[in-house]
Amino acid sequence: MGERGAELSGVEWTALVTLYLRAVESRSKESILKDRAASEAVRRLGGDFGLGSLKMRLTAGDRYLVVLRARQLDLWAADFLARHPDAVVVQLGCGLDSRASRLDVPPGVLWFDVDLPEVAELRRRLFPDREGHRTIGASVTESRWWEEVPWDRPVLAIAEGLLMYLEEQEVRRLLERLTDRFTTGTLLFDGVAPWVVRISERLPRAYRGFGMHWATRNAWELEQWNPRLRRIEEVAPLARYPVIPSRFYRCLYRVLSLIPPLRNELKLFRFEF
Ligand SMILES: C[S@@+](CC[C@H](N)C(=O)[O-])C[C@H]1O[C@@H](n2cnc3c(N)ncnc32)[C@H](O)[C@@H]1O
Repeated sequence: MGERGAELSGVEWTALVTLYLRAVESRSKESILKDRAASEAVRRLGGDFGLGSLKMRLTAGDRYLVVLRARQLDLWAADFLARHPDAVVVQLGCGLDSRASRLDVPPGVLWFDVDLPEVAELRRRLFPDREGHRTIGASVTESRWWEEVPWDRPVLAIAEGLLMYLEEQEVRRLLERLTDRFTTGTLLFDGVAPWVVRISERLPRAYRGFGMHWATRNAWELEQWNPRLRRIEEVAPLARYPVIPSRFYRCLYRVLSLIPPLRNELKLFRFEF
């Protein structure tokens, strides 16, 4: 299993990074996420995926950004599911995320996790399909896989760490397909600031291994692209630093959150339609 995980490259590799960061955080005594499924998945993949623990360890300082993002999305998702126990959930670019095991998912919910075929294949081995939960291997930019998702229920669409890897036209088309298909729903996603995309373009390919394309400051443009979408809330995950149990990281994140470009490097958005 460890070698298979190590074969992921390019943007698919990022799924291993976020899984690893959630697992590392979940192993600490005062974990925020308590994501046992992530920790178990990393153990099954061989600890550091055979990638050389240094590369993974270097990213470990970022774990709270990934964890605070996941936690906020969990809170929004839990709120939606409590109000819509018959919902369809579609996690776009789900990677190796184990949100369904962190939430109290009502039994009537149908849950679909969508990612590129290689990630989906690894995902099914770690988190096998079960009743009401399915992994679909496809690009979110394709249209055919949507036919596998029932359209006659409220939808919760979550794109965590995905849209920045798409081109603007692809983001627009994806959102159009979502609102064309469903009568009502909630869309949760994160977006990076334009300077993050500019920096990612300058990094040598060996370091980034993938390209970021779409950036947004406040996501107002979504309402212009798609008049059905209403912007409800926005949160900078870094500003949620008070819940970090480690004093060192709490202070570090507090300082970073005082610098607006850093606080706003990543923002979470909740839209309804
Ligand atoms: C940073 S990871 C985030 C994974 C997961 N959402 C998480 O938070 O752990 C980005 C994910 O987006 C997926 N991805 C990128 N482009 C995609 C596309 N066109 N269609 C489906 N998934 C895509 C990658 O394979 C990867 O799993």
